[in-house]
Amino acid sequence: MNGRSVNRVTVSNYLNDDFSARIADDVRRGLSRTPKAIPSKYFYDSRGSRLFDRICELPEYYPTRTEIGILRDRARSIMSFFEKRPGLLVEIGSGSDVKIRQLLERIDPAWLRHIRYVPMDISADCVIGGARRLLADFQGLSVEGIIADFTCHLEQIPPGRKMIVFLGGTFGNFTPAEGNDLLMRLAATMGAEDRLLIGLDMVKDRPIIEAAYNDRAGVTAAFNLNILNHINQRLDANFDMNLFEHHAFFNPNEERIEMHLRARDTFTVQIAGLAMASFFRRNETIRTEISQKFSRQSAHARFRKAGLEAVAWHTDAQDWFSLVELAKKRFAHVGSAAHAAWTQKTSVYPEKREAPA
Ligand code: AVJ
Repeated sequence: MNGRSVNRVTVSNYLNDDFSARIADDVRRGLSRTPKAIPSKYFYDSRGSRLFDRICELPEYYPTRTEIGILRDRARSIMSFFEKRPGLLVEIGSGSDVKIRQLLERIDPAWLRHIRYVPMDISADCVIGGARRLLADFQGLSVEGIIADFTCHLEQIPPGRKMIVFLGGTFGNFTPAEGNDLLMRLAATMGAEDRLLIGLDMVKDRPIIEAAYNDRAGVTAAFNLNILNHINQRLDANFDMNLFEHHAFFNPNEERIEMHLRARDTFTVQIAGLAMASFFRRNETIRTEISQKFSRQSAHARFRKAGLEAVAWHTDAQDWFSLVELAKKRFAHVGSAAHAAWTQKTSVYPEKREAPA
């Protein structure tokens, strides 16, 4: 390498036989349980990733543009992590390069030489295409793409000072148990100085949330149905997409969107690759996704459980979406008595204020 700033790129792939075995297991298990459910990561074959990019452009789908607005406004503050010292910018579930660009475009170009960008995604197209476009546009940046499933390949994150970014509200696609497990494993990769920037979609008026998952153009429906297509390909199944309909609604008790595929009839599907058949009653559903909507309180509770704490909270004017900078909690440990007492005090306080003076 000569003295000039040279862009460097590597791409590693960790999705081999392992991934085929996992999709087989996940689908077998998901179709055998009641109610049926398939993990939402299987939306993202190449067609699914393209449909998702179209969802992000829909007028009803507010999360992406809201998050991009926050990234733009707060880019310099967020990226000051790289101002004085070099480090890794690790993006898990990176998808397209649109979001990371918002950050890279707004910093002092001199900082780019400090940054090793490490996108990790299960879509090879996203990792390779993104790396190519970023290298063309950002002189000095290094890219180390990792094609992998971040739910099980976190050990592939290179060692070193780092900021991990986990955008798009993907964290909301995990159940509380899975999400806590993931947060704890992320925290385990972090040193005291490291940061985790996490995107959360916030609770808001129900019609706004429901419209985002029931767009008029039907792109979300096509995205949802495409998971069956992906399973047909990967596991030699014969799901007929015409026999299912998209069904998405807000579950107020759990404060989350649920997406389902509902059987229009009673029938049996053959999954040759699993040597199994799956029986559907008319109106029975497969749950394909949950998308948790957070309040600040519910978010803080989740961070605390994983031994993390918010050090900066970035939001939009309507408080529709949050980007939270997290660090490892220094002293208090999970579930300490002192902390429980503090939490109680803060929740009693507003009631006291309501009493007449
Ligand atoms: C992957 C979390 C951004 O939950 O909103 C979009 C995926 N599903 N429309 C979300 C999705 C249906 C999405 N994220």
